Amino acid sequence: MKAVILAGGTGTRLRPLTTYLNKHMLPVGKYPMIVYAIRKLKEAGITDIELVTGRSSAGLFTQYLGSGRDEGVSLTYRIQEEAGGIAEALKLAEPFVGASGKFIMLLGDNLYEDSLAPHIEAYRGQAAGAMVLLKQVPDPHRYGVPRFSQDGKAIESIDEKPQQPASDYCVTGIYMYDAAVFSYIDEIKPSGRGELEITDVNNAYASRGLLRYRTLNGWWTDAGTFESLHEAAGRLKEESE
Ligand code: G1P
Repeated sequence: MKAVILAGGTGTRLRPLTTYLNKHMLPVGKYPMIVYAIRKLKEAGITDIELVTGRSSAGLFTQYLGSGRDEGVSLTYRIQEEAGGIAEALKLAEPFVGASGKFIMLLGDNLYEDSLAPHIEAYRGQAAGAMVLLKQVPDPHRYGVPRFSQDGKAIESIDEKPQQPASDYCVTGIYMYDAAVFSYIDEIKPSGRGELEITDVNNAYASRGLLRYRTLNGWWTDAGTFESLHEAAGRLKEESE
């Protein structure tokens, strides 16, 4: 299975640091944030990875990570010229993923404890469709929030940053897709903030009954704010030493 890591974006909530440094290159303990995503994949046996980032940051990533050799992975890079949303960035990875079928996409700012291995294993066994990983959180309104079917077995739809969340689960930035994802991206329209939203893509799967989920048990954070960045650094301190 291949993997795509999204490492673009403007990181507005981490200004002023992100005025000169891509969020995913900010230090978390001893390493830049991006390293943790790569290691999670490597640990789950995935070494063929494409990193999508913006033009001005690409040099930093290639300088630090190069071919991926030091981390024991094979990296390719793709440039997102303008920020157009997570789904737009993912679309750029279509030539890399090709017809190879199922793949995993990670948002590079998600830091977490769980191994990806059992989740990837479960997705390999899924006949068709997509899988998202959920986490119970105290502040679901900050994220994509699932609405479950009555028996709790399926996701019926996802609301993006709802004022009144339907559950206290959030959709984490760990997504597993089949090649159909690219045609779903072609069908969606930009949201109010002018972006192609990954939640709309997931809803395309959900409306066809093709969106499964699993739940993360360990700690999880999206290190998009100073508070969550410090929390992650604290939790990853041991690993970094
Ligand atoms: C994005 C997604 C959201 C998801 C979150 C996880 O939000 O749109 O559905 O819950 O990542 O990190 P963003 O971080 O772009 O606000």
